[in-house]
Amino acid sequence: MARTIVSIINGRPAEGPAAGTVDSPNPARLTDVVAEVTLANAGTFAGACAAAKRAQPLWADIPAPVRGRTVAAIGRIVEANKEALARLVTRELGKPYPEALGEVQEIIDTCDFFLGEGRRLYGQTVPSEMPDKQLFTFRVPVGTAAVVTAGNFPVAVPSWYVIPALVTGNTVVWKPAEYAAASAMALFELIQAAGLPDGVLNIVFADGPATFGGLEQALQAGTLDKIGFTGSTAVGARIGELAGRHLQSPCLELGGKNPMVVTPDADLELAVEGALFSGFGTAGQRCTSLGTVIVHESVHDEFLAQFAAAVSAAAVGDPARDVLYGPMLDQKFADRFEEYLGWIQPHHKILGSSAVGRITGASPRAGFVGDPEAGLFYHPTIADGVQPDDALFRQETFGPIVSVTTYTSFADAITLANAPGYGLSASIYTDNPREVFGFRRGISAGMVSVNNSTSGAEAHLPFGGNGKSGNGSRQSGIWVLDQFTRWQSMNWDYSGRLQKAQMDVAEITADLDFRLDS
Ligand code: UN1
Repeated sequence: MARTIVSIINGRPAEGPAAGTVDSPNPARLTDVVAEVTLANAGTFAGACAAAKRAQPLWADIPAPVRGRTVAAIGRIVEANKEALARLVTRELGKPYPEALGEVQEIIDTCDFFLGEGRRLYGQTVPSEMPDKQLFTFRVPVGTAAVVTAGNFPVAVPSWYVIPALVTGNTVVWKPAEYAAASAMALFELIQAAGLPDGVLNIVFADGPATFGGLEQALQAGTLDKIGFTGSTAVGARIGELAGRHLQSPCLELGGKNPMVVTPDADLELAVEGALFSGFGTAGQRCTSLGTVIVHESVHDEFLAQFAAAVSAAAVGDPARDVLYGPMLDQKFADRFEEYLGWIQPHHKILGSSAVGRITGASPRAGFVGDPEAGLFYHPTIADGVQPDDALFRQETFGPIVSVTTYTSFADAITLANAPGYGLSASIYTDNPREVFGFRRGISAGMVSVNNSTSGAEAHLPFGGNGKSGNGSRQSGIWVLDQFTRWQSMNWDYSGRLQKAQMDVAEITADLDFRLDS
């Protein structure tokens, strides 16, 4: 049965005119409507920012260790509801259940990390140039954050923003993807159960234009101090422009065209396992999904044969059963994926399934689990022989397709890996330390894996990218604290005199002409 979902602002269902409704269907069984979502307009979005802004000083006044206890409670509440939340994620987004459980675990890990931050949030005491004077640094909350998230990680990635924002004393307006509304609302309710005061966390459902308009209004009104955005490079660039006009630097986590370099001495079986998981897990709809395998020409044929065999044998279908991957997240991702499939050219050799495109009765896949016609299922596709000028090589292709190309010299492998201009995650399979560290130094990616796939970042290492993958902001671990706090310095002179920095500083005279007798 579909649940009706509305925005919650200041602890109450949003008032004001609705901007329409959308359904959030189960992408594995489209007749199963998980939620009917009432969309807010730009004014309502801006109103949520104003409410969050009003709530912020009181929240910041709560001692950080107490806020940390609230984060601890959120972690325990999510843990107690782990299976229920994972089931909902599987139903609404089509993510295989073990992956959905992993996603919920990522929220728990994030809470476990940040509950302690409430007792740290360290500043420094710093010596002064002058006597009877002391210097200090403090982390202060940024204020109110608007967090706009995608639906491929409908609950884990939002927690990467919301949890550190809350523990550092900010208030939040969260705008989840409409097609992930039920999962988002479930997480919102679990967080609220920890006892957050009204207005500290608000959830708003809105389409892209209303969200953008709402951000603009709030920035103009001075009720929004930080934007966090996970989504496409194109939208990220527009958000960056908007924030920049208001002298703000957003936290942007954008797309990727993540390379995997397979060297001559790589463990091919391990590389194939990694390529299968990161290329086709979540139906290739992670920002960390594998884009292109760059394999040394001497092992290309063997790698490709093993990879094609593994992909051909992989189970695709009902995400509640034992499959490698399920459906596309939503119709709009299926439509876009069909466009990307149009980039396949005659010089590409296609492997991995019996056909390309949607899996249907007329275009079946051997071993499909369940009824392909019920949902948005696509054949896995390997495109071998891609060239550096091909769209398939240069652009993100959010879906179950992996490109393969070859390299001759190690320097070429790095050039190819950097060529698309993204820089999120990159992986290399080798046991040669020169190649490991040469790759690390040469690659533009923010995240590097050695003998591991491009996916599966742990929740306490910096997560983020460069180039078309982001503006250098990092989430997770201690690094995200710089997104949600600003450094404030303080100096305290208790000498009773005006001591001028750089001028009234004691000097010890040195004999710089001193030399040893030779
Ligand atoms: C994303 O796709 O936006 O590293 C996040 C991973 C996951 C997170 C992906 N832990 O694949």
